[in-house]
Amino acid sequence: MPLVATRAGGKETGPEADALVIFGISGDLARKMTYDALYELELHGTLRVPVIGVAKDDLDGKQLVKRMRESCVAAEKDDLDESVFERLSERVGYVRGDYEDPKTFRALAEELDGCEHPVFYLETPPSLFEMVVDGLAAADLTKGARVVIEKPFGHDLESAKALNAELSKHLAEPQIYRIDHFLGKEPVMDILYLRFANLVLEPIWNHRYISSVRITMAEDFGVDDRGSFYDPVGALRDVIQNHLLQMLALIAMEPPTGGSDPDPVRDKKMDLFRAIPAADPQRCVRGQYEGYQDVDGVAPGSETETFIALRLFVESWRWAGVPFFIRAGKCMEAKATELRVVLNSPPPIGIAGSAVPRADEIVIRIDPHGGACILVEAKQPGKETLRQVDLELLFEEELGDQPGPYERLLGDALLGNPEHFAREDMVEETWRIVQPLIDDPPEVETYVPGGWGPEGSSHLVTGYGGWRRPWLPSEEPYGAVGP
Ligand code: BG6
Repeated sequence: MPLVATRAGGKETGPEADALVIFGISGDLARKMTYDALYELELHGTLRVPVIGVAKDDLDGKQLVKRMRESCVAAEKDDLDESVFERLSERVGYVRGDYEDPKTFRALAEELDGCEHPVFYLETPPSLFEMVVDGLAAADLTKGARVVIEKPFGHDLESAKALNAELSKHLAEPQIYRIDHFLGKEPVMDILYLRFANLVLEPIWNHRYISSVRITMAEDFGVDDRGSFYDPVGALRDVIQNHLLQMLALIAMEPPTGGSDPDPVRDKKMDLFRAIPAADPQRCVRGQYEGYQDVDGVAPGSETETFIALRLFVESWRWAGVPFFIRAGKCMEAKATELRVVLNSPPPIGIAGSAVPRADEIVIRIDPHGGACILVEAKQPGKETLRQVDLELLFEEELGDQPGPYERLLGDALLGNPEHFAREDMVEETWRIVQPLIDDPPEVETYVPGGWGPEGSSHLVTGYGGWRRPWLPSEEPYGAVGP
């Protein structure tokens, strides 16, 4: 297969798809993410196949296109290119039916007549994954196909294993593309490029120079109308087991090798996950924001965490003794996702009077406005003392417009590039890491919305210089010890 570089879909490694089938095309996720991702794929020439929506809503193709248009107009901020949307709408078909009913899959098979490599995107609740895959298999549609599924992949280690076992009855692992949309974010992909396409970071990227790593995912909104989804899930399952552990792997893994390894990045991530001992409930803090109990769909007396902070270690030569602190929370002061690597303090110097240099920090901001920043000490003008300054890079400003995660990942699935999808072994290994926190969860502490989580969260980092206020677009990135 030739390698094809495109805007959305780094490289082609499998046969290019000849149809895209979306189960759950009328749902919430489709409205929020998928329609506009399809428009962007069309705009950039990556969508070259028919798109068939499947759902049980009483719709026809025209009504579906109308819904898609509304979402795209909103997403494109009234700047929709009508000729692009017209091309997209000509690709769209709709099969109405129940997933329990074999007739739905027979109707789909007729639509797909002659297609050898369809991509089936299951945007359905996870409870329907098995039913849809069974239906596809019974209609003889799985051969040569790829199946893209949305998180959550199970709700603990055992259920993840069971789901994988079910899927593997009809599909080989390389046919399964598990979406973790963080892996489709360009700034997340940038982590490996910054680390390994340069020589400046790699020599210091180990326990001899790095004292700790902090990963923060803060959201300045609550659970809103997702109470019934969120309450049985909580922050650990919602974002730690998947998004944040995947980012931890990228910041800490060994360089991918060349040679004959067909899956070098995912293999190295897997090595990293294996080196992480299971999380310790004594080193975990759970919180729930005040007012959560009033959200529609939340069970009375719920102990679900809307904030979690934990400490992990990686048992490897590179990371011996370096703590990885991770926190994620809703209703925080600001929306910010970042990785922050804190270096050891330099030895005393003889050039800045009595000033003691602060440890340098390297920050990679994922959201909002991805970028990277190195905090270093400089000379205060006119004085023999120190001042912390930043060497800042904003990806979009420097590199231009970036595809959104769903555009990127659907493009990759169409081209047959699985690199930015979660593999079965990774999903199970990450559940293994967090399982003790599910089995033996620490008590939840209430916290006031608009801050940085419960008080206990700061105790977790005692002795390591505290949490840092995240680097926000409108603020200095200096690692002032704070929240
Ligand atoms: C989803 C979680 O996977 O990620 C949500 O279910 C969370 O709870 C969302 O808000 C965050 O994604 P993003 O891309 O908006 O940072």
